[in-house]
Amino acid sequence: MKHIIESQQFDRKFIEKIFKVADGFESKTDQSLKGKIMASLFYEPSTRTRFSFESAMLRLGGSVITTENAKEFSSASKGETLEDSIRVISNYADLIVMRHYEQGAAERASLVSEVPVINAGDGPGQHPTQALLDLYTIKRELKKIDGISIAMVGDLKNGRTIRSLTYLLGKYKNIMIYFVSPKELKVGNDIKEYLKKHNVEFFEIQDLSAVISKVDVLYQTRIQKERFVNSKEYEKFKGCYQIDLKQVDKMKVKSILMHPLPRVDEILCEVDSSPKAVYFKQTKYGLLVRMALLKFVLSKK
Ligand code: CP
Repeated sequence: MKHIIESQQFDRKFIEKIFKVADGFESKTDQSLKGKIMASLFYEPSTRTRFSFESAMLRLGGSVITTENAKEFSSASKGETLEDSIRVISNYADLIVMRHYEQGAAERASLVSEVPVINAGDGPGQHPTQALLDLYTIKRELKKIDGISIAMVGDLKNGRTIRSLTYLLGKYKNIMIYFVSPKELKVGNDIKEYLKKHNVEFFEIQDLSAVISKVDVLYQTRIQKERFVNSKEYEKFKGCYQIDLKQVDKMKVKSILMHPLPRVDEILCEVDSSPKAVYFKQTKYGLLVRMALLKFVLSKK
């Protein structure tokens, strides 16, 4: 079964294949998933991931059954285990797209599901389909992935998108990564060990101004309020790296500013009209990549 659980499972050949199919969806219609049903099961809030997966399924001719806020609106609220919910839902759908607040939940679901499971974010764990769309954005905007330098900025301890994207970048050549965060929110050791093992050069710094004019990609992230023990802890870091137009002017001419979204205050709205700001394009690319992934997961080959 073709579960999508973590970025490490992809190789370059697979990634290139998905990107080629995604390119094709920009100009052609495809109703090949007619008769198929996708269940979207979200235990945490989402705008982009849930709507883009649902839109992707509908655009491919398929149907969607869904619950937002599954913690409250599914029988989880009565004490049903994740495993029991998945066993049941996998009788009603041909695949399950699931977001959960616990790291490892998608893998647990995949172990009992009768149909493929796609991890749409598992707590501070991973968000592999976001990583694929992020990489696709880099390829579309910079026309290359090998050889790029990237600054990942913000809450690197709790941010699952940077974790998944780092694992993917580790598969490419001559990548330079700058992890920019407060020392309390540094990227996890598992990521650093993976990069060392794959000979990917990286630096951990606190000062964004030291690298802002050097990198091809500035990947800004939100401080993950929901992962802090209390609001006082969160307030200590809120607004610690804020990108305004003055900062964007320091970036290389052909560089791009990305963000998985949602944003709070870490990129000011005055930046949105800059040609370097590609975070809304990123959401459009996400639809194409998720269409390609659905087609792959539900194809017989
Ligand atoms: N980037 C992302 O996962 O956005 P949502 O939380 O809105 O799905």
